[in-house]
Amino acid sequence: MHHEDDQDIQYKVKIGTWKKIISIVFRSKKHLVMLALYSAMLAALDALIPLFNRYAIDTFFVAGNYETWPYYIIANLLLAAGFGFCVWGFINEAGIIEAETSYELRRQAFKNLQRLSFSYFDKTPQGWIMARMTSDARKLSLIISWGIVDFVWAGLSMIFILIILYVTFIKLALIVTIVLPVMMIVAYFFRKLILKQHRVARKHNSQLTAQYNEGFQGAKTTKSLSIEEVNYDEFAITAKKLRSASVKAVISSALFSSILLVLAYIAVATTMFRGSVYVLDTIITVGTLAMFISYVVNFFEPIMAISRIISDFQNAQASAERIVGLIETEPELVDTPEVQEKYGTLFVDHKDNWEDLKGDVEFKDVTFYYKDNENILTNFNLKVKAGMSVALVGHTGSGKTTIVNLLSRFYEPKSGGILIDGIDYRERSIHWLHKRLGYVLQSPHLFSTTVMENIRYGRLDATDEEVIYASKMVGVDTFVSKLDKGYETFVGEGGNMLSVGQKQLISFARAVLADPRILILDEATSSIDSESELVIQEATEKLLSDRTSFIVAHRLSTIVNSDLIVMLEMGEILEMGNHEELLQKRGAYFELYRNQFFKEKEKELENIM
Ligand SMILES: Nc1ncnc2c1ncn2[C@@H]1O[C@H](COP(=O)(O)OP(=O)(O)O)[C@@H](O)[C@H]1O
Ligand SMILES: [Mg+2]
Repeated sequence: MHHEDDQDIQYKVKIGTWKKIISIVFRSKKHLVMLALYSAMLAALDALIPLFNRYAIDTFFVAGNYETWPYYIIANLLLAAGFGFCVWGFINEAGIIEAETSYELRRQAFKNLQRLSFSYFDKTPQGWIMARMTSDARKLSLIISWGIVDFVWAGLSMIFILIILYVTFIKLALIVTIVLPVMMIVAYFFRKLILKQHRVARKHNSQLTAQYNEGFQGAKTTKSLSIEEVNYDEFAITAKKLRSASVKAVISSALFSSILLVLAYIAVATTMFRGSVYVLDTIITVGTLAMFISYVVNFFEPIMAISRIISDFQNAQASAERIVGLIETEPELVDTPEVQEKYGTLFVDHKDNWEDLKGDVEFKDVTFYYKDNENILTNFNLKVKAGMSVALVGHTGSGKTTIVNLLSRFYEPKSGGILIDGIDYRERSIHWLHKRLGYVLQSPHLFSTTVMENIRYGRLDATDEEVIYASKMVGVDTFVSKLDKGYETFVGEGGNMLSVGQKQLISFARAVLADPRILILDEATSSIDSESELVIQEATEKLLSDRTSFIVAHRLSTIVNSDLIVMLEMGEILEMGNHEELLQKRGAYFELYRNQFFKEKEKELENIM
C-alpha cells in the first residue's frame, strides 16, 4: 500500500492537497506579507540598476558632466544598503515561514496520529510514518518558503522590466516581448522532458540497487546454483539502461540552458542591431541602449527561476499528498455522532455527562477477525463481575491479546458486542472508556524525562505526593531511592537507563495513579528475573485489588490467586474456573501447570549445582 517511489513526480495537480497546504502556510499570514514585500522590493532594486547605469553613461561618460557625481555615489550606496536590507528580510521571513510550516504540518499529522486506531498502526510501517513527519515535512516547507521568494521576485522582475522598457521606448520593447513567449515555451518543454528522463533514470537506479542487494544477499545461492553469469548479464543490462537514461537527462539539461541563452542573446543582438540605428539617428541615447541590453540579459534569470519553481513543486507534490494523507486519514474506529454529542471527542470532553464505571464486563457472541474470513474469535462469550480478577492462559496465538485489545476498544467486534456495566461499549465514547481503563503493556514505553514525570503520565494532574504514594504501593520507591537524583533522575530515551523490571514497576505505578476501574496486564510479568518477580508479584496483588482485571501471563505463579482462570485455545475457551477447580479437573490447565512446575524445579536444581 505504501511503496510509492519517494521521489515520484506527478504531473496532475491535486487541488485538494494544495488547498490544505495553502491553508497551513497561510497561518503565518503576517510573515507571508512581509516576505512578499521584501521579495518585491528586491525585484524593484534589481530593476533600478540598469536605470542607474544609463544615467551614468549618458551624464558622466557621454556628456562629461560630473556635477551630480557625489549624489550618484550616495544613491548607489543607498541602493547597496537597500539590497542588504531586502536580503536580510527575506532570509528571515522565509526561514520563519519554513519553520512554522513544517511545525504545523508535523503538529497536525501528530495530532491525527493520536486519533488513529490500532488497525492503522498494524497496516502502516513506523518507518513510513517517520519519513512523512520528517523528510516530507522538511522538503515541503523548504520548497514552499523559498518558492514564494523566487516566485514573487521573478514575476515582479519581469513585470518591472517590461514596464520600464515600454515606458522608455516601445519599438525596442517589442523585441523582448516577442522573445518572451518563445523562451517560456522552450522552458516548459525542456522541464517536462528533463523530469521525465530523471524519472526513468531513477527507476533504473532503484532496480539496480535491488539487484545489488540480491546479488550480495543471495551470493551463496547464486554460487550453489551456478547462475553467476545470468545474474551478471541482467545486472549489466540494467546498468547500461541507467547510464543511457542519465546521459540523456544531462544532455537535455545542458541543451535547455544553452538554448535559453542563445535565445536571450538573439534578443540582445537584435536589440543592439536595431538600437544602434536609433542611436545613430539620435532617437535614443547610448545609455538607453545599454540599459535595454542589460534588461534583455536580466530577463533570462527570472524565466529560469520560474521554470525551476514549477518543477520543484511537481517534485513536492508527492510529499504534499502523503503528508496531507496522514493529516486527513480518518480513524477506523469512531464514536457515532450521537455519542460524540453526549460524551465529546478526544480533544473536547463533555465530562459532565460521563457516567462512572463499575466494572462488569461481558463478551456477548463476539466474532472478530483481523483479515476477512480468518476468524480469531467466533461467538465468544465471557461474563465477568465487577472487581473480579481474570487470568487468560493459552499458547501463543490463542487469542489472549486479541481479547484484551477488544475489551480496550483498540479494535471492535465484527459482530456481537462487549457490554460494560450492561451497556454496549459503543454507546459510550472511546475516550470515556480509555480514561477508566488501564493497560500495562508487555514492553512499557517510558518517555525521555524524569521518573517522576513518567509516573505522572498515569494521571497528569497528580501531585508529587500522590506520585510518590503510588510508587510506594508497587515498590518503585525502593529502587528510585537508590538512584542518585531520586525521582528527578532522567530515564534516558525510551527509558534505556532502567532495567526491564524497573520499567515494568514504573508502568505499574502509573496504573495505580490512574486508578482505573478495569485493569489489563498483558504479559506484563514475562521478562523479569526471579528476584524482581517477587516484588512485581506483590505489586500486582496491590494493583488488582478492588477493580476488574484481566491478566495475561506466562508465569502461572502470577495467576494462581485469580478469581477466574480462562484457558484458551484457538480463540475458544477450553477450561474455566479457579486454580483449585482446574487442577482437580486434570485437564489442559493441569498439564500446563505440571510442565511449568517441573521446568522451574529443574532450573532451581541447575542453579544449585
Ligand atoms: N494485528 C494483527 N493482524 C493480523 N493478525 C493478527 C494480529 N494480531 C494477532 N493476529 C493473529 O491473531 C491470532 C491471535 O493472536 P493474539 O491475540 O496475539 O494471541 P496471543 O496473545 O494469545 O499470543 C494469531 O493467529 C495472530 O497471528
Ligand atoms: Mg499476546
